[in-house]
Amino acid sequence: MSLRLSVIGTGYLGATHAACMAELGFDVIGLDVVQGKVDLLNDGQVPFYEPELEEVLQRNIQAGRLRFTTSFQEAAEFATVHFICVGTPQQSGSYAADMTQVFGSVSSLAPHLKSGDLVVGKSTVPVGTATAIAEQLALAAPGVDLAWNPEFLREGFAVQDTLEPDRLVIGVRSGPAEATLREVYAPLIAKGTPFLVTDFPTAELVKVAANSFLATKISFINAMAEVCEAAGADVVQLAEAIGYDTRIGNRFLNAGLGFGGGCLPKDIRAFMARAGELGAEEALTFLREVDQINLRRRSHTVDLAAHELGGVLRGKNICIFGATFKPDSDDVRDSPSLDVAVALANAGAVVVVHDPKGTVNAERVYPTLTYSTDITKAATDADLIIHGTEWMDYREIDPRELIAVVRTPNIIDARNKLDIDVWRSAGWNIRALGRPAA
Ligand code: UGA
Repeated sequence: MSLRLSVIGTGYLGATHAACMAELGFDVIGLDVVQGKVDLLNDGQVPFYEPELEEVLQRNIQAGRLRFTTSFQEAAEFATVHFICVGTPQQSGSYAADMTQVFGSVSSLAPHLKSGDLVVGKSTVPVGTATAIAEQLALAAPGVDLAWNPEFLREGFAVQDTLEPDRLVIGVRSGPAEATLREVYAPLIAKGTPFLVTDFPTAELVKVAANSFLATKISFINAMAEVCEAAGADVVQLAEAIGYDTRIGNRFLNAGLGFGGGCLPKDIRAFMARAGELGAEEALTFLREVDQINLRRRSHTVDLAAHELGGVLRGKNICIFGATFKPDSDDVRDSPSLDVAVALANAGAVVVVHDPKGTVNAERVYPTLTYSTDITKAATDADLIIHGTEWMDYREIDPRELIAVVRTPNIIDARNKLDIDVWRSAGWNIRALGRPAA
């Protein structure tokens, strides 16, 4: 009989993991403590926007391989392999991760687990967490094994990244735990996915090291953008030129408003906090710079907006293209674009935010801004537009048409994705981060 799996937590990671494991043919039960989410998922609806996920979810619910519950007992009794996919947000008032959900879900699950079950941690955690959970399980659920299996999926590509990952990493202490995970991921291993077996701390560190590297790469090119701005050079050409060196590579080298979201910013901060606890603080002081460079892009964009508007923000109409932290997502957590919108509104500008999918979430966090899902309406009477999230919708705009509705044709491309020549020849004053003024 094939393995039965439970997935604890149904956020971006858990909902995707549950649906994709069912897609691989396993019987899966997903668990969330929020009844409303469970009801939506059982009804075949994804509580957030993620391309392709709804189809996979519905197909597997209909096939009878996937259902959701709020009962830890039901999940524990149904499955033998239990994936922990709950969130580890930044603690308020500290850089460290808030581990309440991870330890809480293990405590709730433990009394119902059966000897021989395997708990698999997927949440992004401070190194040392797996060892602590192993101790917790040894007391609360004797005979239950643990593995650590970090997840590398990107929002917007979550299904693809889960079913066709670059690599699988598992931290284990026992042969049976490895054998069980080889069985779970057999279809992916058969397709040639690299499968790395490590100890607990290495598996935990792989995840935060990868995200730190990605954040560093983005802040590196944004630091180059700052120098380009000072020297009158062009960071887009610079990035293209260095990216041809395959040791550097051109991916994740897009200069602009920098990184946001629920992962990179909080992961580098939690990593610094944990390194401090371990006495290795110095090793990661560079991540403080990475964070600072990233946040400076936001304040620089606000300054550039003021500059383009003759030094006056108060009373000016500013339209922001994009509320989410990246395109193809409705996630507004630590969104650079929304941060800029709020700073401009606080400085007295009249701000309208457009986004194809993120306005509902954005309005929940910042109810005082004005939102629109219609590009033309959002841009009407604008003194300035800021392109803050690179949705394809904005690249498809005809600048010759849009110019008719704005008050003054000023645009800042804070993502370096618009065709500057096309916008200029349509009559716009366009500025782009890290690129020379006309
Ligand atoms: C990130 C990692 O890429 C995933 O591998 C990881 O699994 C995930 O975090 C996680 O820890 O769960 P994600 O947060 O979905 O994924 O988004 P990214 O695609 O990494 O983008 C992060 C931010 O960087 C976005 O705001 C994006 O606009 C920005 N970015 C990205 C740039 O500013 N420049 C670039 O060249 C690339």
